[in-house]
Amino acid sequence: MKILSIESSCDETAAAVIEDGRKIISSVIATQVDEHKLYGGVVPEIASRRHCESINGVVSEALERADMRLSELDALAVTYAPGLIGALLVGVNFAKGLSLSTGLPLIPVHHLRSHIAANYLAYAELEPPFLCLVVSGGHSHIVEVKNYTDMKVLGRTRDDAAGEAFDKAARTMGMPYPGGIHLDKAAEYGNEEGYKLPQPKVSGSEYDFSFSGLKTAVINLIHNAKQKGEEINVNDLSASFRKAVVDSLINNFIRAAENAGCDKLVLAGGVSANSLLRRRASKEAKKRGWKCFYPPLELCGDNAAMVGAQAYYEYIAGNIADMTLNAAATKSIESAFDDV
Ligand code: KG4
Ligand code: ZN
Repeated sequence: MKILSIESSCDETAAAVIEDGRKIISSVIATQVDEHKLYGGVVPEIASRRHCESINGVVSEALERADMRLSELDALAVTYAPGLIGALLVGVNFAKGLSLSTGLPLIPVHHLRSHIAANYLAYAELEPPFLCLVVSGGHSHIVEVKNYTDMKVLGRTRDDAAGEAFDKAARTMGMPYPGGIHLDKAAEYGNEEGYKLPQPKVSGSEYDFSFSGLKTAVINLIHNAKQKGEEINVNDLSASFRKAVVDSLINNFIRAAENAGCDKLVLAGGVSANSLLRRRASKEAKKRGWKCFYPPLELCGDNAAMVGAQAYYEYIAGNIADMTLNAAATKSIESAFDDV
């Protein structure tokens, strides 16, 4: 089954052709990051406008690279939630137009489910059930993936997402947007014990995260140093911050897996590109004789290939949209298709 998929939830306009949820026939990504960099973060109105300008070319390019016509496809798929509403609407309306004109079924795909599915493109042997740590710019979830379309959130962030915390700490250290990758690179040269930072604590729910205190600690530390005219060791601060975030993510993730009796760990989302997170997840899994999967770097960030991968399984589950499909800025990964 060949699916043409579209992604426009944030600052990448992307389209792909995917076969049977597992094989990338073509994948095209037009990123807007250079423009948003000027403002230190994504400007929603600019994002929507750029999606409008790029989407036709990106979809045409994906078909061209696949050497396929619309008539050779079996279905269309689109990210409809969660994300920037004006950005999502561009992809959703483009996909609805294509569906109306071709008669192809339209599959609505939840963005975080598609991040998880990025792993299916890289590992033919990977099948649910497994436990997934979904860490992106907007979300940090521990998800029990019972099957391809049945998921339960075991833990979530109470405040900032991990990617958001990385980006804010990086920005305070003078790194360009999105700072997560720059902070990660600097951390590779730093001493993790260089700075004492608070270990995030959350009461109430066993597997929840909190990163805002940690982020504030870094911001205060930098401001205090500036006031006293002291130099900050950026590599050491990056390493100390990265360790605190990754410790918190991994501790909860491993505990959740142990308690659930799950021996398969999966990482997903933009932050799954983090080198320490990848190393720590592999090490902890290996220690316990568990399996550990994370996407290749090119599939960690936003792309449409992962949308086409998840769409295949949503189609099998009967999750097909009609022309009333709307975009949603927020939507639970568990009840992704209620009210769609
Ligand atoms: O999944 P994604 O591409 O977009 C969202 O759906 O939000 O995630 C983007 C986030 C950004 O916050 C970015 O800084 C972060 O992923 N990120 C990283 C790394 N690479 C990307 N964070 C830490 N270390 C990295 N190597
Ligand atoms: Zn994403």
